[in-house]
Amino acid sequence: APPLTCNAILSDTCSNEVTELADIDWENLGFGLLPTDYMYTMKCGRDGNFSKSELRRFGNIELSPSAGVLNYGQGLFEGLKAYRKRDGNILLFRPEENALRMRMGAERMCMPAPTVEQFVEAVKATVLANRRWIPPTGKGSLYIRPLLMGSGAVLGLAPSPEYTFLIYVSPVGNYFKEGVAPIHLVVERELHRATPGGTGGVKTIGNYAAVLKAQSAAKVKGFSDVLYLDCVHKQYLEEVSSCNIFVVKDNVISTPSIKGTILPGITRKSIIDVARSEGFQVEERLVAVEELLDADEVFCTGTAVVVSPVGSITYRDRRVTYVEGVFGVVAEQLYSVLTRLQMGLIDDKMNWTVEL
Ligand code: COI
Repeated sequence: APPLTCNAILSDTCSNEVTELADIDWENLGFGLLPTDYMYTMKCGRDGNFSKSELRRFGNIELSPSAGVLNYGQGLFEGLKAYRKRDGNILLFRPEENALRMRMGAERMCMPAPTVEQFVEAVKATVLANRRWIPPTGKGSLYIRPLLMGSGAVLGLAPSPEYTFLIYVSPVGNYFKEGVAPIHLVVERELHRATPGGTGGVKTIGNYAAVLKAQSAAKVKGFSDVLYLDCVHKQYLEEVSSCNIFVVKDNVISTPSIKGTILPGITRKSIIDVARSEGFQVEERLVAVEELLDADEVFCTGTAVVVSPVGSITYRDRRVTYVEGVFGVVAEQLYSVLTRLQMGLIDDKMNWTVEL
């Protein structure tokens, strides 16, 4: 059957009859793909303009075996979330920020990108079409995964002649299998995630393939994930495979500054603003690995992980432990403010949420 237009699907899914929640176990959401009803696609040809947007049933896509994304990794992704408020309305968290980050990344990867408006409208349409998959308040969120890929055929190394912007969604709960419990990190000293002048600062798909080897080795040893050091001095903290890192000492919060090798996390940036508005001093600077040894608290931030307390970090076979309970006090306070704002449980003084 030909794909339906966005409007036809939206008028169907937004009609009052389809407000029932999907029939899944909302109590035990983790972070795995649960296929939903619809995905969104939009294409861009040689003229550089994105058009032909459509919502269609979630499913496999067809690509040329010589698509740029498959052969040369010309691809970017984003991650953001939608929350169901207690009154049933839906909140998106800072979608324009994801749109802008995708545009920055597209410039680095020689790709055209949707405008901010196209991106945000596409996210809204995808979320509304899949609204029955948004978890009840407090049970999780709808994770939104926009992709931008070189979908045209190439053989010699060159930018793809055609691009596809695609969005799919999945209901999610906690990212780490630990749930809302401290994670255990190991500092990686041999393998690096990013290099100066490379692509560490943009959300290109290859950055994530590059960390799988160290991450898998760490998991075999019982760690939750890997903390990367800078590749020049092997001395300064960069980030964890899937999130940014913060270190707390004497109520001062420090995080590695954005300098091209670190992903500019939207949760990272939001937590810095929340912390400052809560009266904390926040420093974005070089953070030496030795600072982990006498930190009061360490925590990670990311769209998927939200705010994750770190229970221990192992560096050169030395294990430093932090929190006894679930959260350290600082991480707990920041987590609480951020998540209540995202779920619409407190006033959004920052003007970060977008209500659908
Ligand atoms: C996110 O936090 O949204 C990410 O993109 C990280 C990913 C590895 C799950």
